[in-house]
Amino acid sequence: MERKTVNVTIDGRSLDVEQGSTILQAAREFGMHIPTVCYMENLTPYGGCRICVVEIGYDGGSKTFIDTSCTHEVKEGMVIQTQSPRIIRARKMLAELLVASAPNVKIAQDIAARMGLLKVRFPMEDNRCILCGLCIRMCYEQMDGKALGFVGRGMGRKVSMPFEVRPDTCHLCRGCDYVCPGVIVPCQGVTDPGELCGRCVRIEEMPSCCSMGTFGCFCEQNPL
Ligand code: SF4
Ligand code: SF4
Ligand code: FES
Repeated sequence: MERKTVNVTIDGRSLDVEQGSTILQAAREFGMHIPTVCYMENLTPYGGCRICVVEIGYDGGSKTFIDTSCTHEVKEGMVIQTQSPRIIRARKMLAELLVASAPNVKIAQDIAARMGLLKVRFPMEDNRCILCGLCIRMCYEQMDGKALGFVGRGMGRKVSMPFEVRPDTCHLCRGCDYVCPGVIVPCQGVTDPGELCGRCVRIEEMPSCCSMGTFGCFCEQNPL
């Protein structure tokens, strides 16, 4: 079957990308990196973390708006900027909030370090769940478990089983654990509250061993 494409411009490059794909998928197809937290291939995009925001415009990009690239589909003539000053500012703020909320979750540290943050202005909490919703989607969409969901709002929002009791639909497959960024051993570089070590900033390219497809990290395969 013929592949239908639309023409878009991403960071100044004119590209023919598959119709129906998201901006994130299109960018990745051409090797352009957009950071993500709550996105995982083969799970429905959720649009929760907003780290993947990009600036979108038409008519040459004179009037633009910001949206999440993991949920926004490409359209003919779209002009997309993944690294504009407005986007960098927005991502820095989101990264700071994320790492303040969960300073001991590795992906929060990685994102913050990659954004060049070495200090956090907000009060540090110690959440181990970053509310990415990956476990819920994994359970529903891949494991046929239907055992997890978000409950509560605002500061009280959390992932839970119905009435906090494991239902029969949970097969103990541990698919939820498998995708949870909260269980990955965090970087040990953080020492003082409010300080971030930022060692991973020194890696320019994403290492090929990075199984999460996130950012350069401090690991055995890539000694600093
Ligand atoms: S262990 Fe239970 S809750 Fe976790 S993914 Fe499997 S079925 Fe869902
Ligand atoms: S438990 Fe883990 S996978 Fe589930 S929302 Fe929290 S951080 Fe994400
Ligand atoms: S990765 Fe797109 S909103 Fe989280």
